[in-house]
Amino acid sequence: MQRILIWDLPTRLFHWTLASSFALAWLTSDGDQWRSIHVFLGYLMLGLVVFRLIWGFAGSHFSRFASFWFGPKEAIDYLKQVATGHAPRHVGHNPTGSLAIYILLAMAVVVGLTGILTLGGDEQQGIAAGWFSFSQIKWIKELHEAAAILMLVVVIGHITGVVVESVLHKENLARAMVTGVKMADPDTPKATARPWVAVLMLLAMLGFGGWWFAYAIDRQIDGQAWHIRLETGIGEEPHVKFVGKQLPDHKQWREECGSCHAVFYPALLPSRSWQKMMAEQDQHFGSDLGLDAATTEAILKFMVDNAAEKHAVEAAFKIEQSIPAWVTPLRITETPYWIRKHREIAASDWTNPMVMSKTNCAACHSDADVGTFEDGAMHIPKAPTAAATSPASRP
Ligand code: HEC
Ligand code: HEC
Repeated sequence: MQRILIWDLPTRLFHWTLASSFALAWLTSDGDQWRSIHVFLGYLMLGLVVFRLIWGFAGSHFSRFASFWFGPKEAIDYLKQVATGHAPRHVGHNPTGSLAIYILLAMAVVVGLTGILTLGGDEQQGIAAGWFSFSQIKWIKELHEAAAILMLVVVIGHITGVVVESVLHKENLARAMVTGVKMADPDTPKATARPWVAVLMLLAMLGFGGWWFAYAIDRQIDGQAWHIRLETGIGEEPHVKFVGKQLPDHKQWREECGSCHAVFYPALLPSRSWQKMMAEQDQHFGSDLGLDAATTEAILKFMVDNAAEKHAVEAAFKIEQSIPAWVTPLRITETPYWIRKHREIAASDWTNPMVMSKTNCAACHSDADVGTFEDGAMHIPKAPTAAATSPASRP
């Protein structure tokens, strides 16, 4: 027996980046504000699977599919041998482990692709934006979640297998996946490290990450952007912003409806609400808007054309769905969806001087002005400290 390189560098890099991407994707799957990272990790995993498929033919001996091309029957037989404590040692992947690898690769593709579709349907973002409506996407989203759970189950099975094998054959398999080296017969096929392929992989991943997160890097170095952010009172920490679609704008609407408060984008209420609001414009929450007929007509047309029923963004769809047909709300903040989404925000966050009012949407939604209300663009500001309020204190 001697120390022999079994796993080449690209295979190890693949393994650990896939594993950490999967773990991080789980951690970022819940909080809407992590969406951009979550989606990035999904694309990264798809890219890694493509690499692995190529490497299954181009890699070193034990990285090739030919070296671990076992069927389900062999996988089950091997499991039985493990149960009786008589499983033979495989220098490369054992039959059960191999099956786990194929399932994981397939699941990563299913999870990745359903993720892209979900993003396209649920958020109307990414390459699949507009392929499905908000109501059609529901079951695909459920498939995405179910597939991710199944993948987690296989991952847990895989880790259990690694631990059992390591104990059974008294070798640290996880460490072998780090160093690439195992004790084996001198005539075992040796891997070549292939460091250049690994370097290319790393560069590709870094390049992809740099391109994906360029907006965050920009924001860090562009002092001006920080300044604007602080002036609008959005708060301190940068949140991950997903740049999605742009909604139509209207100059006259912006001027007339943005003079007392920040504009509320038409997608946030159904057209019947806007019609009622304009019909009763002389008693607009205690004020008389006093708009002439032509202006009223122009503004109302823009609002009706872009009202909630148009489902231009997720918020529009959800708000519209939540309002009973016989109700015509004049306040966004009284729609069931709005109430549900803001129920868990602490009282102290509402009284924070940077927020003060429920209708100060822009305090927490950096895209309130353009009406998209994307998950990644929301952020509850923390009460300012002396350092945080002064733009000069930012590096
Ligand atoms: C003269 C000042 C003024 C103008 C101009 C004005 N509003 Fe208002 N608006 C108010 C006040 C005051 C409130 C109540 C704010 C509050 O409760 O925080 C309000 C509240 C609202 C709300 C309810 C917000 C919520 O969900 O609680 C909507 C929607 C709204 N305005 C739309 C409009 C539109 C559309 C226009 C343009 C046609 C407009 N406003 C122009 C004064 C104005
Ligand atoms: C104190 C901060 C704060 C203010 C002010 C605020 N929001 Fe929110 N909003 C949030 C948070 C946090 C969430 C995310 C809640 C969640 O995901 O469960 C949210 C979620 C939403 C969503 C759902 C987004 C989605 O697609 O999942 C919409 C729409 C929304 N807010 C609209 C508004 C509007 C309109 C206003 C102003 C009338 C407003 N918000 C004011 C903090 C705020």
